[in-house]
Amino acid sequence: MMRFPLAQSLGAAVVAALVTLSVPAHAEADAKTVRMFKAKCATCHGVDGKGDTDQGKKLGAKDLTSADVQKLTDADLKKAVNEGKKAEGKTEGMDAFKDKLDSEQIDTLIAYVRTLKK
Ligand code: HEC
Repeated sequence: MMRFPLAQSLGAAVVAALVTLSVPAHAEADAKTVRMFKAKCATCHGVDGKGDTDQGKKLGAKDLTSADVQKLTDADLKKAVNEGKKAEGKTEGMDAFKDKLDSEQIDTLIAYVRTLKK
């Protein structure tokens, strides 16, 4: 019975430590994601996802923030990034990323694309 409060306060200390650790870890992941998007995706899609870049316009990249794209499922978006996609009527488009990024990185980028929603 005497151990119970001790276990409880240890539990609280562990929770507090996890919260403290996870906050900067999360912020770091976000900065990493933004860097990854800028490095791998922004040439065409733009940092803001709107596709308002020379490459984006040339290839017909859609506005990732638009309802048109945001209504698609995560699986649809992931498939496009994994396998690559061309805009209608274009011979060149987005390369397949499945050999360049791992599945988790692509999931993170899709989650990031969701945050760009208008
Ligand atoms: C070489 C230019 C280019 C690069 C680099 C690029 N994309 Fe694309 N992306 C396109 C084009 C073109 C399409 C097809 C037209 C469209 O749907 O926007 C497309 C389509 C998409 C789609 C599907 C949208 C839809 O309408 O189905 C997603 C999601 C996407 N890109 C995300 C990304 C992510 C994430 C990256 C970085 C890993 C990336 N793209 C890199 C040009 C590019």
